[in-house]
Amino acid sequence: MIEQLALDGGPRAVEEKLPTFLESAGRSFGVEEEGLVLEALRNGCLSRNGGTMVLRFEQEFAQALGVPHAVACSSGTASIHLAVAALNLEPGDEVIVPPITDIGTVLPVLWQNAVPVFADVDPRTMCLDPADVAGRISGRTRAVIAVHLAGQPCDMDALVKICKERSLVLIEDCSQSYWAEHEGRLAGTIGDMACFSLQQSKHMTCGEGGILVTPREDYARRARLFTDKAWPRETKSLGSCRFLFLAQNYRMSELAGAVALAQLAKVRDTVARRRASAERLTALLAEVPGVMPPHVPSATLHSYWLYMLRVNEAEAGVTARRFGEALIAEGVPAWVEYIIDPLYLSPIFAESQTYGASGYPLLQFGRQNYQRGLCPNAEAALKSTIAIWWNENYTEAHVHQISDAIRKVGSHFSLAGAKP
Ligand SMILES: Cc1ncc(COP(=O)(O)O)c(C=O)c1O
Repeated sequence: MIEQLALDGGPRAVEEKLPTFLESAGRSFGVEEEGLVLEALRNGCLSRNGGTMVLRFEQEFAQALGVPHAVACSSGTASIHLAVAALNLEPGDEVIVPPITDIGTVLPVLWQNAVPVFADVDPRTMCLDPADVAGRISGRTRAVIAVHLAGQPCDMDALVKICKERSLVLIEDCSQSYWAEHEGRLAGTIGDMACFSLQQSKHMTCGEGGILVTPREDYARRARLFTDKAWPRETKSLGSCRFLFLAQNYRMSELAGAVALAQLAKVRDTVARRRASAERLTALLAEVPGVMPPHVPSATLHSYWLYMLRVNEAEAGVTARRFGEALIAEGVPAWVEYIIDPLYLSPIFAESQTYGASGYPLLQFGRQNYQRGLCPNAEAALKSTIAIWWNENYTEAHVHQISDAIRKVGSHFSLAGAKP
């Protein structure tokens, strides 16, 4: 029997509202955050220069990952900017980036007047394809930013090898992959620098914030200066102010630092709960026609910021877009496509919308055509993937309802033989 879809006026498979990251039911704030925020207020200094919370957060974050240095800042985008700025690139230098990620991965490259070069992805994980990265290296390439998308670590062995051989700096973007693992190593501990976002939707959050970690003292020093107008505070007296290079004010406030510090103590548990419930869904989906769970290579542990459901259109009898719309109508919190198009099709790149009419540095130094066809795997993968919001507070019952919804939509379209 074909069940009537909620999209067509039938009953929803997910009856209750699932917890989301936008409300306390979907977050883990408690007395720990309250206590530290109050302590920060009572300390009387809400700036990191003079306070203790941001410093403690940096020290404990570095220790938790087992990396020597951490520098907190005001957003995940800022943390990528610290990493790129730490390299002191020349205008026109190139940085290889994936086309499927948040734009915050890529903007800082342009702000440093360097050129993003897009490499294609592995169609199963949507993470950078190391072979394609190798093929896009030029004499001007200086770094690669590897984004562990949705919680899935990249093929780090291959990327480390390529970067070592070609003397490139490897930056990990871990904004979506707290405590994910590759070959038993935590994401963020493998490359030369790693960046994290603490924005509201992430595994741990202080509303807005970011942090960079690195084993390299020189990168850490330059990154720290970059958060603070390149003002070497150790010189102490205001009279001795000398600003060492062009930089930003990306300082994290003590209130954000207090919340981040409390959240750090909870992040392992958050990831474990997300992983357990996502793996439960994967098991429940084993025989649903036309859909595939996220591909998780055996060397890796996923941390499920999103649950990337892949749709095989031929088997499902419908496009992923239509399937996703039907799922959303059933009450599953999802995005039909994670991003509509690869980033290079955004006007920033496709129309060189950078500084005034100059198109700088793309028109002067760029060598890629930011047009459809540049990264075919990324384009196809985006069209066949539905991003389901994942949450550590999903119960067993919630996971069953999500699975019921996917099964209902899958059966409906395969039985109806519906066409897009
Ligand atoms: C992979 C990735 N990189 C960078 C960012 C930028 O972080 P923020 O929004 O905190 O600036 C995000 C945020 O969504 C992200 O998911």
